[in-house]
Amino acid sequence: MGEGTGDEHVSVLVDEVVGHLQPTPGRIYVDGTLGLGGHAQRILEATAPDGRVIGFDWDEEAIAVARRRLASFGDRLRIVRANYADLVAGLAGEGVMAVHGLVLDLGVSSLQLDRAGRGFSFQADAPLDMRMDLRLRETAAQLIARLSAEELADLFYNFGEERQSRRIAARLVEARKSQPVTTTRQLAEIVARAIPRRFHPPKMHVATRVFQALRIAVNRELNNLVKVLAEAPTVLVPGARMCVLTFHSLEDRIVKQAFAGSRDYKVVTRKPVLPGRQEVLVNPRARSAKLRVAERV
Ligand SMILES: C[S@@+](CC[C@H](N)C(=O)[O-])C[C@H]1O[C@@H](n2cnc3c(N)ncnc32)[C@H](O)[C@@H]1O
Repeated sequence: MGEGTGDEHVSVLVDEVVGHLQPTPGRIYVDGTLGLGGHAQRILEATAPDGRVIGFDWDEEAIAVARRRLASFGDRLRIVRANYADLVAGLAGEGVMAVHGLVLDLGVSSLQLDRAGRGFSFQADAPLDMRMDLRLRETAAQLIARLSAEELADLFYNFGEERQSRRIAARLVEARKSQPVTTTRQLAEIVARAIPRRFHPPKMHVATRVFQALRIAVNRELNNLVKVLAEAPTVLVPGARMCVLTFHSLEDRIVKQAFAGSRDYKVVTRKPVLPGRQEVLVNPRARSAKLRVAERV
């Protein structure tokens, strides 16, 4: 992986998503998280010669790569630069009122993780930004500067399920008195120092949960997910399927509850579909993936 072509993202559970979506020629599908276009490409191939995909993404860089990679599909692909939470408005802008399926592949792409400068990863030192859409107003650094110790602790606990949240928040507030916390390395070091060695998790970086929590907060990820799950039934035709790939338990819980708790959805996957061992071996990002599918009643 690197900063070369940006084509390095390996899509997760593609066969399973396409299998459940049942893409059919002549129909219209939405990819709410176009990214580098892996899932969209498979849907376009399966719906040849005249199926259409409307791909949402709010990251300009991802859109540029997807546009290039999927150029051969011509106007069968439309790209909308918007938050997928604004699904209905975005589709209306394309003159589309009803679609035959919807895919969401949540989280960050390898492109976002690998581009130094976006600040998603503690692997490289970079400004603490974390906005997937550079039009969003507040970066992670600004959030850290603005919130109180209590608010930061709640954020780490609620969005990162971080049990050391109070310790970390206290240490951050102490640190920012002498110097603003503006880089990924600074943050990772502060977190590492805040948590006693015996509580460092054995299998992941000690700052993983804090980085996840900040990313969720900066991009309002859970709010967006709740909104799209509520809006989708208004555009999905009866029988249309919605496939959602989640990467942590907070997202998965929201999807599970929305599918089970609405009369508009019939659950297709009682248990989430997980990647096999082989997929996880070749694509570590698949490790925590879960696919849930529901059908519009
Ligand atoms: C994991 S990647 C998708 C990868 C894609 N399925 C593929 O196979 O190449 C997630 C993408 O969704 C975008 N994204 C995340 N949240 C979004 C939102 N609320 N609205 C629009 N795009 C979003 C990110 O910018 C990122 O490009």
